[in-house]
Amino acid sequence: MHKFDYTQLVPSYIQAFEAYYPSKPDPELMRLYGVDHLHRLNNNENALGPPPEVAQVVEGFTPMAVPVYPNGDCFDLRQSLAERFGKDPEQFLVGNGSCEVIASVIKAFCEKGDNIITADKTFAVYEWVAEFSGFEARLIPLKDNGFDPQAMLDAMDRHTKILFVCNPNNPTGTYWDRSTMTGFLDAVDNRAVVVIDEAYCEYVENDDFPDGMALVEQYPNVVTFRTFSKMYALASLRIGYLCANPEMVGVIRRTHIVYSVNTLAQRAAAAALTNDGSFIRATRKMVREAKALLCPLFDELELTHVCGQGNYLMVKVPVSDTLMYRKLMTQGIMVRTMTGFRFPNWIRISLVQQPIMEAFCRVFRPVIEEIQGR
Ligand SMILES: Cc1ncc(COP(=O)(O)O)c(C=O)c1O
Repeated sequence: MHKFDYTQLVPSYIQAFEAYYPSKPDPELMRLYGVDHLHRLNNNENALGPPPEVAQVVEGFTPMAVPVYPNGDCFDLRQSLAERFGKDPEQFLVGNGSCEVIASVIKAFCEKGDNIITADKTFAVYEWVAEFSGFEARLIPLKDNGFDPQAMLDAMDRHTKILFVCNPNNPTGTYWDRSTMTGFLDAVDNRAVVVIDEAYCEYVENDDFPDGMALVEQYPNVVTFRTFSKMYALASLRIGYLCANPEMVGVIRRTHIVYSVNTLAQRAAAAALTNDGSFIRATRKMVREAKALLCPLFDELELTHVCGQGNYLMVKVPVSDTLMYRKLMTQGIMVRTMTGFRFPNWIRISLVQQPIMEAFCRVFRPVIEEIQGR
């Protein structure tokens, strides 16, 4: 048999691209680190679990629903979203997580020679999808831990198709207030699509936070992303969506995989939207309390930390982030190493219930004190 030299078939941008390997399953990690429990503080999940309305849907999902294909374009959920936000169902496109709609938007607008613009230290999937699709990702350095609007505008050229703004930013928790956002959109002046990724918007309590759903009505080039993975705690079901004007959605729909969102996810998401807000208030309270516990500890240990919006914060540790990860893992605490986010020696911690945050503090403090020689 002749050897098949597949490498010559692989585009150069795929050859240059490094695959991302997600972490191993929890039981495997527990075995590897010799622990009998694991607190997951690595993925910004909502540890309270989903709203009670979702629990009913999950428990009522019968085996006979399994052989039937889901609704191919989330018809009912788009009705629910339209009612919830006072919009037309045609303004929504639902994906297998908002990660999927990132890919749909890039496929819809970019062709050979085009570029997208985003920050260097933000959610990496915008950059990754652009690069493994053969498009340039222009990565603009953060300024004071936030997206830099002027530098993003300066980086635009006639091949710029999409600007991705993560608001609030994962992992720094910074956000553009209403006037920064509208100033930026005015300056872009419809020359490119602006994606506002609001994955963590439900965590923001400040009045000056701009509402991406409203901006979609004011600016025809705005596409707002939201997800059910974070606040609504549906991460395992993989469901997120975009909202834009119907014409833009009509174009993006052409590149979007139909039937990619399963029935349970669609029903659970619709149920989550019916919660009266008590669930969001309870989650915000949990996050506030967690910040109030962790930030003073980091101050006391004289560790630089960044604590903004969202259910996470970051702290700089006096050793490599991977070593810190391993030290915490041996005591059943899983955090996110931040070298991959271009923050070497930082870790990100998801903010969850008080007893787990206290367990984190009990493990973290002696590890740091030992390193610091206190
Ligand atoms: C800023 C941001 N956007 C989008 C996503 C993707 O969310 P999902 O694909 O689970 O909807 C994440 C997940 O971590 C995120 O942090």
